[in-house]
Amino acid sequence: MASMFSFGFSGDDIEDDVDAGVTDTATHTDDNEKNNNTSSADNLPGTSSLPSQIAYNTLKLESSSKNEFLTLGRREIFDVRTQLMAEDAPDHDELISGLEQGDLKPNFYEGGFKTWECALDLARLVLATDQGEADMAHVIELGCGTAVPTLALFARLLSLPEGLMPFRFTLADYNSTVLRMVTLPNLLLTWWLNTRRTTTTTTSQGDDNGGDGSTEEAQKTDEGELDIDSDLINAFLTDLAIRGITIEFISGGWSPHFVDLVLGDHHDAQASSTGRNTLVLASETIYAPSSLDAFSQTLVQLLRRAQARNSGKTTSLVAAKKVYFGVGGGIDEFLHVLRQQPLQDNEQLDIRESSQVTSEGVGRIILEVSIHDTSTNTTSTRT
Ligand SMILES: C[S@@+](CC[C@H](N)C(=O)[O-])C[C@H]1O[C@@H](n2cnc3c(N)ncnc32)[C@H](O)[C@@H]1O
Repeated sequence: MASMFSFGFSGDDIEDDVDAGVTDTATHTDDNEKNNNTSSADNLPGTSSLPSQIAYNTLKLESSSKNEFLTLGRREIFDVRTQLMAEDAPDHDELISGLEQGDLKPNFYEGGFKTWECALDLARLVLATDQGEADMAHVIELGCGTAVPTLALFARLLSLPEGLMPFRFTLADYNSTVLRMVTLPNLLLTWWLNTRRTTTTTTSQGDDNGGDGSTEEAQKTDEGELDIDSDLINAFLTDLAIRGITIEFISGGWSPHFVDLVLGDHHDAQASSTGRNTLVLASETIYAPSSLDAFSQTLVQLLRRAQARNSGKTTSLVAAKKVYFGVGGGIDEFLHVLRQQPLQDNEQLDIRESSQVTSEGVGRIILEVSIHDTSTNTTSTRT
């Protein structure tokens, strides 16, 4: 059985030891609600297991609202594989096999090591429009894996003047190993590339293959290695603290308890005082019919509770292929399950197609899903 836990850091405790103290609050329900372990969100677990050097490639995406290219850092897949092999943990053989063959193993490895096509669509969409970072309080990415859409918003946030209102990222993936070996390193790399490009690396030009050949449209990239030591980690945490950026990670299955971890009481005070917007992102998370209900339920609960929590706008962007051949999920199946989710009297689902990509291969769509409050005749979409 997989486990679920959350951890985070706010930069307040940058001198603390970086390993999390995990408190077990285990609950057991169905397959999607795993053992739940929560930790206090005041330090940066995972950094202690970062190797002293990570190999990376970069992805350059245009931020049309700002007329500039932003650089996102992604850890190389071969480097992840090396760390998996070096750690020699019991479940790593199967993760290595999933990583190498691109096979998903339901309820064990769900594909987060590599970047999937729709993640780039979603990143481009969030950069093509002003997502209103100045008014946004919280970005939640479900099934984040390499977290390219979040990295895009993170990079744009880093390009803004320091001292915006507090900003919170919640990154969730089924596999804690993905969060530790890919998501966290990618955030560190993206921060480093956007704030201090000139230190401790050797770079060379190279082609980006996105890990799975899915990023054929990718822009010209750099490759290199980043040396990681405590000075770098402390600089990262200090800068986040100065900018008011909090980052949290949650691993495990989608479930009501997962929603509690994302929007629990411990976050209410800060969020409700701001009254700013919440954006939920998800790319390639609706491929498996068996998890469509858990995903849809989680999405609706997040939208409802985030909207109730702050008076700001709450919406979601769900990017996916129209059809997942041989697996059974896809846009139609997702919409069918989503529309079956119970709503409260004054609620109505608002579903719009934000973008459609019809290049070669299976069509891809980004849906904007929000909850319309019929009692106030307002919609929880962004303004
Ligand atoms: C195909 S990967 C997509 C990764 C990334 N969003 C991208 O597009 O590159 C699917 C993601 O959904 C997450 N996922 C799948 N089933 C899940 C479940 N039942 N509960 C929580 N997360 C799940 C996995 O962790 C995985 O990262």
